[in-house]
Amino acid sequence: MGQVLQQRYQIMGVLGMGGMSAVYQARDLRFPSVTKLCAVKEIINLAPDPQLRAIAVQNFEREANILATLSHAAIPKVYDYFSEHDRSYLVLEYIDGQDLEAYLAEYPGLLSQEIVLEWGIQLCQVLVYLHDHNPPIVFRDVKPSNVMLDKHGQIRLVDFGIAKLFQSGQKGTMIGTEGYSPPEQYRGVADPRGDVYALGATLHHLLTKQDPRAEPPFSFHERPIKSAHPAVSDQFVQVINRALEYEPEKRWASITEMQTALEGLRTTTIGARTKPATGRIGASEIEPLWLFPCEDEVRSTPAVAEGVVYVGAYDNNLYALDAQKGQFRWKYATEGGLASSPCVWQDRVFVGSEDHSLYCVNAQTGRIVWSCPTQGCVRSSPQVEYNHVFFGSDDHHLYAANVQTGRVAWKADTEAPVRSRPAIGDESVYFGCEDGAIYAVDIRGVLRWRFATKRAVTSSPALYEGVLYIGSGDHTIYALDVRSGWAVWRLRTGKPVISSPAVAKNTVFVGSVDHSVYALDARTGRQVWKFTTDNQVTSSPAIFEDSVYFGSVDGNVYSVDARTGALRWRFRTGAPVTSSPAIADGVVYIGSTDHHIYALVA
Ligand SMILES: Nc1ncnc2c1ncn2[C@@H]1O[C@H](COP(=O)(O)OP(=O)(O)O)[C@@H](O)[C@H]1O
Ligand SMILES: [Mg+2]
Repeated sequence: MGQVLQQRYQIMGVLGMGGMSAVYQARDLRFPSVTKLCAVKEIINLAPDPQLRAIAVQNFEREANILATLSHAAIPKVYDYFSEHDRSYLVLEYIDGQDLEAYLAEYPGLLSQEIVLEWGIQLCQVLVYLHDHNPPIVFRDVKPSNVMLDKHGQIRLVDFGIAKLFQSGQKGTMIGTEGYSPPEQYRGVADPRGDVYALGATLHHLLTKQDPRAEPPFSFHERPIKSAHPAVSDQFVQVINRALEYEPEKRWASITEMQTALEGLRTTTIGARTKPATGRIGASEIEPLWLFPCEDEVRSTPAVAEGVVYVGAYDNNLYALDAQKGQFRWKYATEGGLASSPCVWQDRVFVGSEDHSLYCVNAQTGRIVWSCPTQGCVRSSPQVEYNHVFFGSDDHHLYAANVQTGRVAWKADTEAPVRSRPAIGDESVYFGCEDGAIYAVDIRGVLRWRFATKRAVTSSPALYEGVLYIGSGDHTIYALDVRSGWAVWRLRTGKPVISSPAVAKNTVFVGSVDHSVYALDARTGRQVWKFTTDNQVTSSPAIFEDSVYFGSVDGNVYSVDARTGALRWRFRTGAPVTSSPAIADGVVYIGSTDHHIYALVA
């Protein structure tokens, strides 16, 4: 630890250990003012036989050279390679995440088929890329420990040690991992259908939690997936079983074929799923009604109206989905990611974009009605009232634009970006600002009062019986009198409060970066209960009937009893949940940074 290689790569820790290699996390000292991390794979060459030593160096250089020619989002970039003494090193893009073997070991129950299906499809995408490469590359070592899940919930393929440029029919020696490798690979055959088999073995392992290395070879058909995991659909089982056929001729002819089969399941089995009879199966296992894959993270809050869910994703798109089945209706592409949550008013949807504009789109057709440009990213979520749409911009203004034309009626000045969603009531507009203040302006945009906190206010205010509730980066939840702007009470949490409060039945619910959600008496600020998750809660709670719903950076969506704070259920997604739930007709809609939007029975 602390050792510096090539006077450049400082070893920070161990990421993985194999038979002949170790992978370290390292810091690239060529970038002194920032922490640029990389992964350094070390291959120890202790072979006494000079011929074997030479082969090891050859394998290593081949891995470096294969990787250097590849360009795919799921394959880590190679930055450098070198040898020192009896060791060779490969410097790779650092993947912030976990390999699937470690993930599976830590995961408390069985993985949902939706998640495994998505990973399977993503693995197909990268394997198709390799097989279509010129010359084709057979990976030959697909298994959970060679697949990583990055912090965006995306699959990454690591360990090209034995991937080799493939010449059809060429014979070599057995390369791969017993248990995952197909029978013909033991005879030295490298064929793309070997990757079909290993992918099948990997999916079988992920669904059943039965490690094939600990089982008799080629015994998958004697260990049916459904005996271990009855919730997996018959169709999914069939796709995996066909990949696991002993004879290569009986398998999917290519990964592309297998991918098509898997993608077919995504729409049919998931779209057709009906809600579980009782709504929940224990405190940790609930099945989504449906889920929909976006092309990037979903951090904003969905909006639901007239049986349609509208959701903005970091892939630049505003999506409209059928609320019951999750079927795609339309999408509208802006020029930047969507951090802003859409707002529906009559037959229009409003959403802000990183491309600096606010958009007004027809709710039925997805066609643009107007756009309103500003001088900064629009991360604030719009609100409609008094025939105007109110929203903040990173250009330090709060805007009021005419709902019909998009013409700006006025803009109120602040000292910093406005990312908070405005609350409107009593002919006033209330919002937080990154300058640390909470503002109240009247409906002509004239400042009524300004309340200074000690850090940025990204949280959005909630109005309830003459009091404004809002969180601040200074760790505090404030209750302010709406007329005077004076503090009625304040409560300190252990960390910044980015989550926005929700108020019902005289109780304020709000999350904190300190990992907890607080339930506070609205009049006094006295704590009623506190519920602690495994990571930050930046998601804003939503209330439905007697429950509170919210996401956590620990990857779960929670349902908690509003009166007692007791856990009702939680649902695990593939990545942190910073999106906030929207609830309609007993269904919770929420996005995840694993790129999906989920519909869960409340
Ligand atoms: N680029 C990377 N970033 C972060 N972790 C990595 C990276 N590459 C590998 N790892 C971790 O190190 C482990 C071993 O790496 P791998 O390349 O599979 O080596 P081996 O040849 O020993 O199997 C992986 O299972 C993964 O957990
Ligand atoms: Mg490996």
